[in-house]
Order: sequence, then structure tokens, then C-alpha cells
Amino acid sequence: MKGIILAGGTGTRLYPITRAVSKQILPLYDKPMVYYPLSVLMLAGIREVLLISTLRDIHLFEELLGAGDWLGMRFEYAVQEKARGLADAFIVGESFIGVDSCALVLGDNVFYGRSFSATLQSASARITRQGGGAIFGYYVKDPTAYGVVEFDADGKALSIEEKPKQPKSHYAVPGLYFYDNEVVSIAKGIQPSERGEIEITAVNNAYLAKGRLLVETLGRGMAWLDTGTYDGLLEAGNFIATIQKRQGMYVSCIEEIAFTNGWISRDALLELAAGYKTEYGEYLRYIALERVHEQDQHVAWSDT
Ligand code: G1P
Repeated sequence: MKGIILAGGTGTRLYPITRAVSKQILPLYDKPMVYYPLSVLMLAGIREVLLISTLRDIHLFEELLGAGDWLGMRFEYAVQEKARGLADAFIVGESFIGVDSCALVLGDNVFYGRSFSATLQSASARITRQGGGAIFGYYVKDPTAYGVVEFDADGKALSIEEKPKQPKSHYAVPGLYFYDNEVVSIAKGIQPSERGEIEITAVNNAYLAKGRLLVETLGRGMAWLDTGTYDGLLEAGNFIATIQKRQGMYVSCIEEIAFTNGWISRDALLELAAGYKTEYGEYLRYIALERVHEQDQHVAWSDT
């Protein structure tokens, strides 16, 4: 499975912060925002990633992430000239996707929660094995700014509506989607909505109509954070800082994930650590040299 990070848009809701720079490059506490969605793809086991951004900003991402070899990955970059909608990512990314299945994550979506890696891996494995699409539903107080899922009494998804004035449930669809290869032709067949975009919700409804869409709800132990407003940005940063300081474990540390996934060696991680004279660098060094992996501890405890 391949992965796409969509980091386009004009970011007007955050003006003047984003007047001269992409929203997805802004800091969320100690890392650029794009690290967070990138970590989601990595946790799903995806090693080949296409990053899509604007002509103005694409070079920033290239400078930040390079070819990907430093993470044992492969990155490609593409420009979306105009914000034509989320589903356009599959048209821009057609040659990158090739014959594979593909996950899409929005460059400003931040996730954190227990068992999330397992959720991601099973979504990815399911789509690779059986095809179709997999999306998530996340309970929010006010879902009107999102795609909203309607469920029947048995929890089966009935419909998805984009930004409904009268939502049929509290379950918003986060910006994380897994699809089989058919998504490219589905995206090509979608007509622009009233706001002039080819909507991801239309893609989801196409899969739903075929009975090929899995909608998995994320429980209350899961954080899906909003970074679309000044307050959302600040609160998300504080949330990350709080967890990292309390536990001493970093959220969305891409170098750590690459190492844990076995994509880079201990020496390579130490070399990356040496490049940062910051707490972040110290953390990478700690991961390389000292940390007993949680899983190892678990095994040790069950042994006794
Ligand atoms: C987009 C999607 C919406 C989804 C949301 C998640 O909204 O259209 O279905 O729930 O991302 O962040 P937009 O960012 O275009 O307002």
C-alpha cells in the first residue's frame, strides 16, 4: 500500500500566520505539523509516500523530508495547482499509486491514542487483502464542519454527508482514508460539489453504494485534534507537550517509528540524534541506546 499526504490549501482561516507559509509546516509544539500525519502512514506500515502541496510551498516539504532514505522510506512530491478537493489527490497521484492500494491522510490531521497502530495496520491489511475502502468515525460535539456518518441501529453506515447543517449523528469522518486501486477511477468520475471541489465524501459514498466501505468508530480514548483555528493550534500543541513531558515518550516521532519499524539501524538513528543539539536529539539518542521497548517489558512481565 502507498500513502499520500495532502498538504495543499491556502490556510486562510489561520491568516496572517499562513500568509507566507504552508499551514502544514507550522510547529505543533516541537515538530512541524506534517510529522504527525506522516507518522500515521508509517504506523500503518507504509514506506512510499507522495506529498502534495502548492507550487509556493512544495519546496519546503522537499527540504524538510528529502527523498526519505534517512527514514528508510521513499518520498515523492507533486504540486496541486488549485485546491480542487481532497479526491483530486488520487488524480494528481495516479502515476505514483500505479496498481497499488492507497491511504490518504490530510496534512493537518493529528491523531493520538492507545492501540491506534493496530487499528491502522488492520485497516491497511484489510484493504490490501479484500479491497474496498476503510474510513473512521469520531464522535465530536459539533460535526457540522466535517463529513458526517449516519448509522443504522446495528451500527452499519447508511450515508455520509459533507458539512450537513443538520447532522444525522455526532460521528465526523477524520482526514484518514484507505482505499483499493479503484479509488483513482472513482475520483475521476466525481463531479465538483457546490463549493467547486471533488469531495472525498463523494468517493466514500461511491464505495458505500457498492457495499464496499468499512466505517470503524474510534473510541473515546482516541484524540483527533483540530488544527484549523488559532485556539485549535495552540491546544493541540499543548496536548502534545503535556503527554510528552508526563510520559517521556514522544508523539509522532518519525525517526523513532522508522527505527521501531526496523527501517533504519541503531547507528543511523544515533547519527540523526547527533544532528540535533536539542531535547529532540537527546530523545533520539535515548531511544537508540536506552529504551526498553514497551513490548519487551510486556513480554518480561508475562514471563514471571
Ligand atoms: C475535509 C473533508 C471532510 C472531513 C474533514 C476532516 O473537510 O471534506 O469530509 O471530515 O476534511 O478534517 P475540509 O477540510 O475540506 O473542510
